[in-house]
Amino acid sequence: MNILIIGNGGREHAFAWKIRQSPDCDKLFVAPGNAGTASVATNVAIAVDDFKELGSFCIDQKIDLVVVGPEVPLVKGIRDYFEADKALSGILMVGPGKVGAQLEGSKDFSKQFMLRHNVPTAGAKTFFSSQSEEAQQYVNTIQPPIVLKADGLAAGKGVVIAQSVAEAKVAIREMLEEKKFGDASGKVLIEEFLNGIELSVFILTDGNDYVILPEAKDYKRIGDGDTGPNTGGMGSISPVPFASPSFMKKVEERVIKPTVDGLKKEGINYNGFIFIGLMNVGGEPYVIEYNARMGDPETQSVMMRIKGDFLELLTACAKAELKGKSLVTDPSFVSTVVMAAGGYPDHYQKGEIISGLENTDTAQVFHAGTKINDGKIITDGGRVLAVTGKGKTISEAMLNSYNSVKKISWEGAQYRKDIGKDLLDL
Ligand code: AMP
Ligand code: GLY
Repeated sequence: MNILIIGNGGREHAFAWKIRQSPDCDKLFVAPGNAGTASVATNVAIAVDDFKELGSFCIDQKIDLVVVGPEVPLVKGIRDYFEADKALSGILMVGPGKVGAQLEGSKDFSKQFMLRHNVPTAGAKTFFSSQSEEAQQYVNTIQPPIVLKADGLAAGKGVVIAQSVAEAKVAIREMLEEKKFGDASGKVLIEEFLNGIELSVFILTDGNDYVILPEAKDYKRIGDGDTGPNTGGMGSISPVPFASPSFMKKVEERVIKPTVDGLKKEGINYNGFIFIGLMNVGGEPYVIEYNARMGDPETQSVMMRIKGDFLELLTACAKAELKGKSLVTDPSFVSTVVMAAGGYPDHYQKGEIISGLENTDTAQVFHAGTKINDGKIITDGGRVLAVTGKGKTISEAMLNSYNSVKKISWEGAQYRKDIGKDLLDL
């Protein structure tokens, strides 16, 4: 099969690395890709939302399967574009259509969906841009911390956890009146605060059946001990000790089944990944958010734990033939440590030369913001590399990833030193 992966992050490098191992993989392309994907696939310089160019490329290269990595092309309707074009509609695709992608593209849509289908989630009220005054009044009646969420896509920055009513009011003004996140904050959800420990759960569904992928824990804050601003994710661990079989059974019964059934009942023909961001509150799962894609840097850990042919599973999903399919997982622990550019998640430099990559024999290095310049690998984004190690225990996996992390350097490189540490005593 000829395959095109869309995206340029660590997630897409991990997909490409795994798909390349399949005997069914012939030509493999990544658009636009990075220096890491170039080592297992051919990079194609087409933007993730340039559907016209992506479509022509698929026809030229006789692509059989498209795997969509990030949310932007999904929310913009890449599936709908392909389905509407006679020459493209026969190409298999993993990734939901525009309506299904609203599970991620609109927090109001996903909240109402959860409420309609009795999926446990935090209580919330939605306010429109004309209702700033009402929103200000409303926060007077609730106890902090107060969770405020911009409705639309805001590159992971649309959530504010206000520690006081005054702070909440400032954030409401910024979002609803000053449109801090543009149209994304045309609506704001004010949500109940859930106190617990977070978990990322992933399924691959063809709209009727689903396969549950290995779960992971993400480390969102930039600093050790979960301090400092939120990022796209600074590390991940899989499996997660508190995701016990009894907890995961609750997740499947109360969250996964009603979600897949709900989509079906509403006539939303969903094909692709659903990433369920959960809070474990005293042993009970609550959904924080849905994403219409896999997580990054969770995918890097998840791909390392999938045994067997992932391409076969993706193809079965895209053909709506997931029934009876299952996944064999490696019981090992996996730890992914993200190395980021100095200054990230604020302003950061690009173009630093990365050295030491050849000495990383204890881990698999997935690239994110990298590119090749004059034969050298240089930084080209905020999150630069994801270094993934495996072991029989969490501490062995951590040791393997950190031993490789220590060999890699560039000017200003930063990483968290505590990925997995909180899980050691669980
Ligand atoms: P989201 O963009 O919805 O994933 O939210 C970003 C982060 O904010 C989540 O990963 C949580 O750490 C936190 N968060 C979101 N909603 C809540 C909530 N209702 N209660 C507590 N924390 C939350
Ligand atoms: N790591 C969280 C995300 O991909 O959204």
